[in-house]
Amino acid sequence: MKIICVETEEEMSARAASLIGGLVAEKKDAVLGLATGSTPMGTYALLIRMYLEGRLDFSKVRTVNLDEYVGLDGHHPQSYRAFMEEHFFQHINISLANTYVPNGVAEDIDHECRSYDERLERLGFCDLQLLGIGENGHIGFNEPAGHFTPECHCIELTENTIAVNSRFFDSPEEVPRLALTLGMRGILSARRLLLLAFGKKKAKAIAGACFGPVTPRVPGSVIQLHPDVTVIADREALSMAPQANQPCAPN
Ligand code: F6R
Repeated sequence: MKIICVETEEEMSARAASLIGGLVAEKKDAVLGLATGSTPMGTYALLIRMYLEGRLDFSKVRTVNLDEYVGLDGHHPQSYRAFMEEHFFQHINISLANTYVPNGVAEDIDHECRSYDERLERLGFCDLQLLGIGENGHIGFNEPAGHFTPECHCIELTENTIAVNSRFFDSPEEVPRLALTLGMRGILSARRLLLLAFGKKKAKAIAGACFGPVTPRVPGSVIQLHPDVTVIADREALSMAPQANQPCAPN
């Protein structure tokens, strides 16, 4: 695992955008695994800028998002489909037909999950999976549990996740209780993982995911099983890393 310690959120985003941009420049039809949330927003903004400057072409790129709320259709402003369109897709020359987000209003949710895994396989899996991490250690919406779930599945969100994500809604009651998420096999099938984190609130999750035992109690710890992982995090997010592994020089 390669851990890059940066000073600011902006530097995290710049490093991530340069990695993803490099991949897209090299492989025109790259398959990108994408995440929503606050963490990757700066990265998307920089990728948009690179596109507007004529440095990137997304016309053949395919994207597969990690997750979606159950019960929100793609037009709902808090759906992850809407997030992706607002913060990324509508600003670049990607074909929306090449962008995949689980359908949170599918009539048959189990069928939707199976189809999503099959879709990922048909695309040849992701060249790179971008990940954020929840304060409770979740990746995608794989919440802390007694076991890892390999396949795409429907999950009950924890109270912690509902509370944290309620900042995007008018009230915590409006946050959907269920979500669809890629499972661990889908995430680990990417040829490269790129985990981003900034801020003190992520320190415990980053310490557990990168340096703790691999356990479904800290779902992000599964990344330790992958041979090609890059973590880009700021000093605060890395502040609980064990001393011997401190990638940042002390202040
Ligand atoms: C969202 C996702 C989640 C987020 C995590 C961190 O698609 O996969 O695992 O990455 O909840 O969210 P932020 O970035 O808002 O702190």
